[in-house]
Amino acid sequence: MNTLITETLECQTMEQKGLPQRIVLRELELRLQRDFSYESGRIVGSMCTKAHHFAGKAYARFLDKNLGDLGLFPGVAELEKETVRMLGSMLSNPEASGHIVTGGTEANILALWAARKIANKERGEVVVPASAHCSFDKAGDLLGLKIVRAGLDRSYAVDLDAVRNAINPNTVAIVGVAGTTGLGVVDPIAELGEVALERDLYFHVDAAFGGFVLPFLKELNSEPPTFDFATPGVCSMTIDPHKMGMAPIPAGGMLFRNEKLREAIAWNISYLAGGEAKNATIVGTRSGASVIAVWAMLKHFGLEGYRRIVKHCMRLTWQLAKETPTIEGLSLMTKPTMNVIGITSQTLDVRLVAQELRRRGWAVSLFPKHVRIVVMPHVKKRHIDNFLKDLRGIANRLGN
Ligand SMILES: Cc1ncc(COP(=O)(O)O)c(C=O)c1O
Repeated sequence: MNTLITETLECQTMEQKGLPQRIVLRELELRLQRDFSYESGRIVGSMCTKAHHFAGKAYARFLDKNLGDLGLFPGVAELEKETVRMLGSMLSNPEASGHIVTGGTEANILALWAARKIANKERGEVVVPASAHCSFDKAGDLLGLKIVRAGLDRSYAVDLDAVRNAINPNTVAIVGVAGTTGLGVVDPIAELGEVALERDLYFHVDAAFGGFVLPFLKELNSEPPTFDFATPGVCSMTIDPHKMGMAPIPAGGMLFRNEKLREAIAWNISYLAGGEAKNATIVGTRSGASVIAVWAMLKHFGLEGYRRIVKHCMRLTWQLAKETPTIEGLSLMTKPTMNVIGITSQTLDVRLVAQELRRRGWAVSLFPKHVRIVVMPHVKKRHIDNFLKDLRGIANRLGN
């Protein structure tokens, strides 16, 4: 019976006659069985997690809201402003202006777009850390900007001299990362801010991942680095609710220091049913439900709720950081600042380690010199214990 349904629906062309919802749903359940699930605890290399059920509920209830047409949905438009201000207040700037967008990629593209507009240049250069996310390369390609990657220091943070040396008269912006994709490292944001002010450059901080982690590290006796709008030169920040914010995908956050900066890329759309409106986003029609779900999560969790989540993730991260180097042949790239760990080796091929972990069902990320583990909220202690057991077995086998 199951096979029969699959055979029916596997047909790639549209059928004349539709199928009952029950059959379609059964088929979906069957077809999606082979996907990884967050509940299994096997996804240990992703920066996404299972959306909180309450966020899902809020999302589903208000599914039809379209923020591309602000005049039709003034209620959601107001919630978006509030959401941006709440995120801003977590990042030392309750006056922030911006949007809930599709993710960190869109936010980073918007930042460079704003920087180019403000510099009033068709072409230009942007200095980013060598560790910056590939979304900056996409942004450069789209916007006709040359992305110049500045080297890192021994702690894998961007080297300030390398940034200074890379700046030239064509430079329109510099970027710092607060929580790098590969290792969760925080660049020297305060110093980069000074460079930006000295050279009169737009300064964007990509805290897509770190934005929901760094504000909560203080209470865990771990000194959080300076990373947000408290640094005077910071013009904009990325902070993604669909990563550590537990919100459903898609939910990225693009925060400008003030409304004037957002205005640089606000585009007027004249034909809308709700009347003329301005959005500073790449897309037109966009999900109001995403905004509503983020607003609902921020209200429901409060700072205390997010602190609890970060505490859970950090405790397991520290366990992993403590036990991994006890495994012969393995070491850490660097002491973790947040819930991202780079497992490396002087003697073993990390590609083979990743390959073996994947063969045993662990979804890990592979970087040139390390295997990246991200301890997200869906990962529990038993998963870390099992992971360490497999890791030990693999290292022993490869070492012999
Ligand atoms: C630091 C950083 N910025 C941006 C992004 C891109 O985010 P998204 O995949 O939501 O577009 C990522 C993705 O992991 C990231 O780690």
